[in-house]
Amino acid sequence: MKKIVFILLIATLSLQAVYTEKVKMKSISFEIPVDKNTIVMQRNCQWCHSYGYILNQGKQSREFWHKIVLKMRNTYKAPISPRDELLATEYLYKHFGKEKN
Ligand code: HEC
Repeated sequence: MKKIVFILLIATLSLQAVYTEKVKMKSISFEIPVDKNTIVMQRNCQWCHSYGYILNQGKQSREFWHKIVLKMRNTYKAPISPRDELLATEYLYKHFGKEKN
C-alpha cells in the first residue's frame, strides 16, 4: 500500500510544471438576431453559457425549443418565469425554427 502511495506521489509530482508565459485566450462572442424579445434572451439565457449553445442546434421545431427552455428551468434550475418561457420559445422558433423535426 505504502509503495503504491509513494509511486502515485512521485507520478503526481513529476506532472507538475510551472508556466510563466502569459497565455492569451481568444474571446469569441456569439451574436444572436435582435428583435423585441432579445432582452428576454439576455435576462434568461446568457449567464450560464454563451449563445453558442443555441446557435449550434441549427434549425429546430417549436417543440424542440420549448423542451430546451423547460430543460434549462427544470434540470439546470434557471429561474425562467412562465411568461419568459413562452417568449424565449417564441424567439428561438422565430429565428432558429423549422416546420417539422
Ligand atoms: C442556470 C444555468 C443555465 C441557464 C440560465 C441557461 N442554461 Fe442552457 N444549459 C445549461 C447547462 C448546464 C447546459 C448543459 C451544458 C453541457 O452539457 O455542457 C445547457 C445547455 C444548453 C443547450 C445545449 C443543448 C442541451 O440540451 O444541452 C442549449 C441549446 C441551451 N442550453 C439553451 C439555453 C436557453 C435557450 C436558455 C434560456 C432560456 C438557457 N440555455 C439558459 C445551463 C443553463
